Order: sequence, then C-alpha cells, then structure tokens
Amino acid sequence: MIPYNVLIKEDVIAARVDSLAGEIASSFADSPTILVGILRGSVVFLSDLMRAVFHHGMCPEVDFMILSSYEEGSKPGVLCVVQDVRLDLAGKSVLLVDDIADTGGTLAQARELLLAKGAARVATCVLLDKPSRRKVDFTPDFAGFKIDDLFVVGYGLDHANRYRCLPFIATVTAQGE
Ligand code: IMP
Ligand code: MG
Repeated sequence: MIPYNVLIKEDVIAARVDSLAGEIASSFADSPTILVGILRGSVVFLSDLMRAVFHHGMCPEVDFMILSSYEEGSKPGVLCVVQDVRLDLAGKSVLLVDDIADTGGTLAQARELLLAKGAARVATCVLLDKPSRRKVDFTPDFAGFKIDDLFVVGYGLDHANRYRCLPFIATVTAQGE
C-alpha cells in the first residue's frame, strides 16, 4: 500500500467541483467559452469540471497545452511550451484550468501567452490554491480549496509522476516519497 493521509475526500471534491462549475457558468453566461487545461496536472480536475459545467448550462470547447517550468534558484520557473493550444482563441473567452496555484508562475505566464493569441478574456481556475507560496502577483479567478504550504498528491497531482491516480487529495508520508 502507498502510505498516505487523505486531506480532501472524494465526495468533498465532487461537491466543490459542482459549486465551482456554478460560479463559472454564472461568470461566463452567454459567452462561447474554451476550457484550456494545462497538462498533465489538470487532467482529472478538467475531466470532472467540463462535465460539471455542462450540468450548469455550458457546453464549452476544450483544448490543452503541455507546459513545463524550470526553476532557477529562488526565481519563478521559466515556462517552456511543450505543446501549444490548437484552437483559434482570437476574440474568445478562455478559462485556463490547472491543478494548483503554487508560486503562481505557471498560470501567470500561461495567461499572458493566451492573451497574446488574442483571447478576449482569460480567467484562471485551479482546484487548489497555496497563497502562502506565491512568488509572483497572481490570484486565480476561481479556486476550489485554499490549502496550507503542504506538498499534496492525487486527483491529477503527482510526485515524480506518481500518485496522479489517487481519487482524492492526499499527503504522502515519508516512506512513500
Ligand atoms: P506554480 O509554482 O504555481 O507555477 O506551479 C507549478 C506546478 O507545480 C503546478 O502546476 C503543479 O504541477 C506543481 N505543484 C505545485 N505544488 C504542488 C503540490 O503540492 N503537489 C504536486 N504538484 C505541485
Ligand atoms: Mg502541473
């Protein structure tokens, strides 16, 4: 067995994803919307979120980008676009979705990239927000849960590419790292 402690249970995540979808649907009412998921961390959250927003009256287009960031000392990571979005974002309302806002570097830079493609609006949505870790001026427009400065896994979040499959958010105890 993987040694872990559950931080946020499946039913709690499901209820929050549904209420978040309601907030998103109200905010994006009447504007054709594209959900852009940042891979790989957003995979589980986006899969649930796109179906949840449908239940709140939205039927967005969906696209993905693969990003990786390279940390240089204490500076926020420099973002590398491994795979870009394929849809034309010009004039569109975009909801950029990721697993977690940590330093904020990834979403702040990704948001600028999508605005540079001519998107009319780029809002950001994360399942988890760790505001105490912020290194850049960034606040997600939609956030599921604020958490303390803990390293968490599950529901798409990984440690060395493991534990993405856990259906809940957990902390991994020392032996499991
Ligand atoms: P940023 O520091 O806000 O740019 O976040 C970059 C990425 O770090 C996130 O998209 C996650 O993939 C990863 N990350 C940050 N905190 C955690 C964590 O607690 N667990 C797993 N991945 C994390
Ligand atoms: Mg990530």
